[in-house]
Amino acid sequence: MKVRKAIIPAAGKGTRLLPATKTQPKEMLPIYDTPVIQLVVEEAIKSGITEILIITGENKHSLEKHFDITNTGNGKLKEFNKLLEKVDITFKRQSNPRGLGDAILRAKNFAHGEPCAILLGDDFYLNCETPATKQLIDAYEKLGSSATIVGVENLSKEKMTKKGMIVVKKGSTEVERIIEKPDIDSVVSELAISGRYIVVPELFLKLEKVTESVRGEIELTDGLAELLKDKLTIHAHSIEGTRIDVGNPTEYLIANLKYAMLDESVKKEVIKVIKSELDN
Ligand code: G1P
Repeated sequence: MKVRKAIIPAAGKGTRLLPATKTQPKEMLPIYDTPVIQLVVEEAIKSGITEILIITGENKHSLEKHFDITNTGNGKLKEFNKLLEKVDITFKRQSNPRGLGDAILRAKNFAHGEPCAILLGDDFYLNCETPATKQLIDAYEKLGSSATIVGVENLSKEKMTKKGMIVVKKGSTEVERIIEKPDIDSVVSELAISGRYIVVPELFLKLEKVTESVRGEIELTDGLAELLKDKLTIHAHSIEGTRIDVGNPTEYLIANLKYAMLDESVKKEVIKVIKSELDN
């Protein structure tokens, strides 16, 4: 079955970005001139997705309004409006947030038995010849349109302790084990889950049975691990491009610089400022 639908969880409180996120959603923070959620939605649309469900929570009204099609605005906004005409975006509130797995479970009816892309709402990709989600959809189709695909990136041991770790079978991309935020001593792989997935409909049934993890959350990773227990195949796919996380203030600053400097004239200005700072 073709992947037409995408789920974007955007209900997180963004506490690591306080005070910037005191009243506004972290997903609405601009990366140079564009809210991060817009970059994520654009990726989904450019990947051929035609239906998007954004899972929201407290204080997310401005996020919903951002997807209204308006008649005014500059060239960039006009381009975005055109993209929005290609897609149907709906919102669902996660009224009692209990973790990423719980947010995804809110999309069970939306998925309605179809495979879905998942794009986490607080990271985005740059320098992709093919949009990140499209790369995963292509892998999904190539592998027979029946396996779950998890986007991965190579990370150091220290960084892995903050991510989902993937262990693949020797010489293959097939996933053998999947562990959320392993202790440093349990890190046995460099492959970290990067925030992009294509999931099969069985995942929702598994998530219904997942219980709280040690950190008190319903983990998406535990739902995926349940698929493996049932011999449902998951493949890891390395996404080509630069993954940009917006999780904390320093990452956010770097994200802004990297995105803004795609424009050569901005890049020149930024380099000038940094050089003069270094000279002082
Ligand atoms: C979540 C997932 C984790 C994944 C990460 C990617 O963690 O639980 O498996 O590696 O996103 O950013 P979080 O960043 O929400 O703690």
